[in-house]
Amino acid sequence: MTGNKAVAYKGPGKVELIDIDYPTFELKDGPGVNPANVGRQVRHGVIIKTVATNICGSDQHMVRGRTTAPPDLVLGHEITGEVVEVGPDVEFIKVGDICSVPFNIACGRCRNCKERKTGICLNVNPDRPGSAYGYVDMGGWVGGQANYVLVPYADWNLLKFPDKDRALEKIMDLAMLSDIFPTGFHGAVTAGVGPGSTVYIAGAGPVGLAAATSAQLLGAAVVIVGDLNADRLAQARSFGCETVDLTKGGPGEQIEQLLGVPDVDCGVDAVGFEARGHGTGAQEAPATVLNSLMEVTAAGGALGIPGLYVTGDPGGIDEAARKGSLSLSLGTGWAKSLSFTTGQCPVMKYNRQLMMAILHDKVHIAKNVNAKAITLEDAPKGYAEFDAGAATKFVLNPNGYLS
Ligand SMILES: NC(=O)c1ccc[n+]([C@@H]2O[C@H](COP(=O)([O-])OP(=O)(O)OC[C@H]3O[C@@H](n4cnc5c(N)ncnc54)[C@H](O)[C@@H]3O)[C@@H](O)[C@H]2O)c1
Ligand SMILES: [Zn+2]
Ligand SMILES: [Zn+2]
Repeated sequence: MTGNKAVAYKGPGKVELIDIDYPTFELKDGPGVNPANVGRQVRHGVIIKTVATNICGSDQHMVRGRTTAPPDLVLGHEITGEVVEVGPDVEFIKVGDICSVPFNIACGRCRNCKERKTGICLNVNPDRPGSAYGYVDMGGWVGGQANYVLVPYADWNLLKFPDKDRALEKIMDLAMLSDIFPTGFHGAVTAGVGPGSTVYIAGAGPVGLAAATSAQLLGAAVVIVGDLNADRLAQARSFGCETVDLTKGGPGEQIEQLLGVPDVDCGVDAVGFEARGHGTGAQEAPATVLNSLMEVTAAGGALGIPGLYVTGDPGGIDEAARKGSLSLSLGTGWAKSLSFTTGQCPVMKYNRQLMMAILHDKVHIAKNVNAKAITLEDAPKGYAEFDAGAATKFVLNPNGYLS
């Protein structure tokens, strides 16, 4: 039998390479698998040999011990791979296809999937709407930071790249289609970005940089990115963004210096619940980003909120935060008639179009997020460097496809 090495969460601050079973067309019991999903038959699934599988800020919430993820949970929801086996009910995807796997697992049959709301599929996670590979409370589908992974409802979920050789030439860019590029794009679209918009994006991590790239692609006049991390701000400037340094205080004043007015048309939260306050030595203050976005977004504007918020956080700063309750100045948002879009990005809504933009050289997402391939064995190091704030998107290379 073929071996299968995988990156597992071992406890706060700790990930390790472990040996797991080669997948079969059945969801077996294991860490984090919902009992109602144990034994589920996946005749509609395929087995993927991973070509690229990226480390995400969403993984870091678990690895930092900020969720209820159990030890030995296999990580990895950003997966690109080659199909090596197809289940008996798969009709159109074939062995040898190279595909992007949307991080949302969706059935293609429920009311929400039919409305393309694949981030809240009703049939894949017995706990709640919405699911993902290798993630706490998401049904228990095994993560893809491994040599091989099972992908359910393959005909529906997979985005097949049209030409294998061309795909492998641009694979570092295409690897961003499983999550951060569509997620950043969704953040920009739901913030209302269009030609001539002024945009403020909180967070210069990979999702923030993907949102900035997306805002440029959508024709924004000015894209401003804010963070407290100088290297990540420099990365944003490397492809034409303006930046605000939040160690110097809130974004409003610096936005005014850039634009001549203190507000922007569109606001994006690419930070989430582990947000820090503004100013030097600022500590965690989970409502900071949402409150500052309500302040700096012009009346009638919209906030795209890909940044993740949880319903339970063992490391929350107070009793309320531990239950996911934040102190929002919603009155500010209400008075300005702001709209909000939260939740998982429905990747399938955007991934094909963004693939075309990549294949036809209209966008260079891998360069903009500074994507870097590392071996599966180096995953613990990648996690540590990413956690320390490296201006890098780490892409694991478990099977040697990435040169
Ligand atoms: N909605 C979705 O579908 C989806 C998909 C992918 C990721 N996410 C979420 O998006 C968020 C960003 O992901 P990432 O991979 O870029 O994570 P990341 O942790 O690498 O980046 C977050 C950045 O925010 C900065 N930051 C902290 N406080 C700030 C503040 N007050 N203002 C501005 N910046 C601040 C940090 O310094 C860091 O650079 C995470 O919460 C992640 O879980 C959501
Ligand atoms: Zn992700
Ligand atoms: Zn569904």
